[in-house]
Amino acid sequence: MLMVAEPILGEEEKAALSEVIDSGWITMGDRVRSFECAFAEQHNASDCVAVNSCTAALHLILEGLGVGRGDEVLVPSLSFVATANSVLYAGAKPVFVDIEALDLPVMSLSDAAAKCTARTKAVILMHYAGYTVDRSAWRDFATSRGLLLIEDAAHAAGAEQAGTFGDAAAFSFYGNKNMTTAEGGVVLASNDEVLDKIRQMRGHGMTSGTFQRRSSRISTYDVTMLGYNYRMDELRAAIGLLQLKRLNEWNAKRRHLTQSYMRSLGAQCPDLCLPFAAWHKSSNHVASHHIMPVVLPENVDRQRIVDELRDAEIQTTIHYPPIHETSYYRENFPCAPLPLTEQFAQRELTLPLHPRMEEHHVEKVTAVMAKALDHAAPVEALS
Ligand SMILES: Cc1ncc(COP(=O)(O)O)c(C=O)c1O
Repeated sequence: MLMVAEPILGEEEKAALSEVIDSGWITMGDRVRSFECAFAEQHNASDCVAVNSCTAALHLILEGLGVGRGDEVLVPSLSFVATANSVLYAGAKPVFVDIEALDLPVMSLSDAAAKCTARTKAVILMHYAGYTVDRSAWRDFATSRGLLLIEDAAHAAGAEQAGTFGDAAAFSFYGNKNMTTAEGGVVLASNDEVLDKIRQMRGHGMTSGTFQRRSSRISTYDVTMLGYNYRMDELRAAIGLLQLKRLNEWNAKRRHLTQSYMRSLGAQCPDLCLPFAAWHKSSNHVASHHIMPVVLPENVDRQRIVDELRDAEIQTTIHYPPIHETSYYRENFPCAPLPLTEQFAQRELTLPLHPRMEEHHVEKVTAVMAKALDHAAPVEALS
């Protein structure tokens, strides 16, 4: 089966894990620190905090920046549910914003402006598919309204501008991401004091951790704030250090494959809408090309297309069922319709994209998709 995403893990990772086990120290220590330094350098930041997921990173960012009860946070509904959940963990209210367009499925600036109230404290942008869109426009938007600007950069590891938009950014190293530590995440923050606070909150708000006490004369600790156990461990950091070394190479391959998809789908499946196609026409666009979304023509039976691709051993997924339409959010945080998000989510299909793929895989997916679209053409189109 050609999978939508695949982690690349091999002998080097196995050796690195053995080394950690043999070292006798498996919880947070020197390797986590080295990983933080390497990740920060790669993303043009002076430092960062490694945690055990992007969800934890988002939660720490919101609390670290002082977002809490009574505050509203603008979030895309077209995202993984963690984006909105983290706002609830912080005690604030997520306010869902529509996307710009079917071919630009990122949070809409004009809808965000319309959803602002006196209680709006922050906005969380999600770099859908790894495209870092409208940096200066979002900075102006946040600055002019006095809002905190936070990036959910789960899709965007290694993208040139990711982590540089505003106050803080959260990255994910979950198994399907551009680089992985199985589970894991990182916080970047533009303010050193905020980052220090987040570092302390990561380990129960304690003034020193077990590793620091082992390697110094400190024998006890104080707890000066409410914290969590969101630590990364040495096993994950060892994998992360290796993955980071290949991130640029992998992202370049993703870009190449995406460009091939754009060309072949554009030629053989002209009825498909290809999000971000306009970006690909500009030679200097920056992105991490995390996923390959396509939008099916209206009234096409998506399940039929999914089945036909599956029969040809091609996996597809959907990014995303809108958060505001899930049962929990519909029942507890009902909101007005988000027409573009809803339409996009009904018609979107994510095709395989990962660095193990080659050109012939793109050709196969395109050919099967073209046939499937013929078979699933809307009834009116056939008559
Ligand atoms: C957009 C987005 N935000 C947040 C997350 C949560 O990441 P994690 O699984 O590392 O907590 C994900 C993970 O799939 C994601 O895709």
